[in-house]
Amino acid sequence: MTPSETLILGLESSCDETAASVVRDGRDVLSNVIATQTELHTDFGGVVPEIASRAHIERILPVIEMAISEAGLALATDVRRISAIAVGNRPGLIGSLLVAVAAAKALAWVWDKPLIGIDHIVAHLHAGSLGVEQPRFPALGLVVSGGHTNMFTMRSPLELSSLGRTIDDAIGEAFDKAALMLGLGFPGGPSLDRRAAQGDSQSVRFPVSMLGQCSLDFSFSGLKTALLYEVRGLPEGRGRDATFARSAEDLSEKRVSDLCASFQHAAIEAIIRKLDRALSVLQDRSEPPHTLIIGGGVSANSLLRARAADFARERHLDLRIPRLPYCVDNAAMIAGLAFHHLRAGRTDPLSLTATPAGTF
Ligand code: KG4
Ligand code: ZN
Repeated sequence: MTPSETLILGLESSCDETAASVVRDGRDVLSNVIATQTELHTDFGGVVPEIASRAHIERILPVIEMAISEAGLALATDVRRISAIAVGNRPGLIGSLLVAVAAAKALAWVWDKPLIGIDHIVAHLHAGSLGVEQPRFPALGLVVSGGHTNMFTMRSPLELSSLGRTIDDAIGEAFDKAALMLGLGFPGGPSLDRRAAQGDSQSVRFPVSMLGQCSLDFSFSGLKTALLYEVRGLPEGRGRDATFARSAEDLSEKRVSDLCASFQHAAIEAIIRKLDRALSVLQDRSEPPHTLIIGGGVSANSLLRARAADFARERHLDLRIPRLPYCVDNAAMIAGLAFHHLRAGRTDPLSLTATPAGTF
């Protein structure tokens, strides 16, 4: 490592992953430590905020120490080489966010380093640039995660304007709820993806929500309800009093696989059609993008990866989609994006707070 290199220590604890990473020059990942909590939340079928924040407290210090040592840095002597401490401080579960934010502020204070608060959603869009060349801008950005489905036009890693977002469920949330309805394991997205590989995506024609002729927003709640009716039959009665003719246990293995494949097809089709629409809008505005940048947990989805690759090739766009380890929540994307903040002189005071709402 030479003195001209910029090393940033990034921390992340917005949901149920405790993560720390050292990244050089916004690009080279020297360490990427992630402690997942899946086993703590499985019995509940979703993340329990109080359990998550307690687990972050137990894990944050060992995770930071591991990230520093895996980066080849000695805690006692090499701390001076670190240029800044970055932390995902928004959006997320407040009790979870606070753990990494408190740790980052303490380290920035004792080591006398600049502190940089990072928006987790914007950081997901940096994940595909880790370990590779910087993308060319302007870019069309898409975040598909458990809590977000957003499209952006990007003039740089830091300059984003919103094009559209979900008006109800995020796509990852829809995958998780669909998996729950079908009796698949937690976390639902990856299990549904695996199961879809054995099914026929044309067996059920689920609605692909477009929200009219021009909208760049997304909606996944209609798809979710359509799946519910396929799984359990049409309800008798309304609301909490509704009763259904059958449950997921009554379905054959083949039927479950077919429903997974058909649901996944409709959800990903909606994404691809909206990307296409966004591209036309940007072309009409004479702002055609050079690159399609995708990030967030659902960017691990096998069908989305295949469809996005075809889409980008056909439309002559470079594609930046994260390698699988960087699709899930991680701190490398936090430290990587922070490099651009630091270069732009955007640092934060020690009064930085965690906020459940994000920038978008
Ligand atoms: O970005 P992320 O790790 O956390 C948030 O910031 O929300 O995204 C988690 C989401 C979950 O909803 C998970 O089910 C989904 O990403 N996910 C997938 C796949 N892998 C993760 N959804 C569909 N297919 C996958 N292979
Ligand atoms: Zn995330």
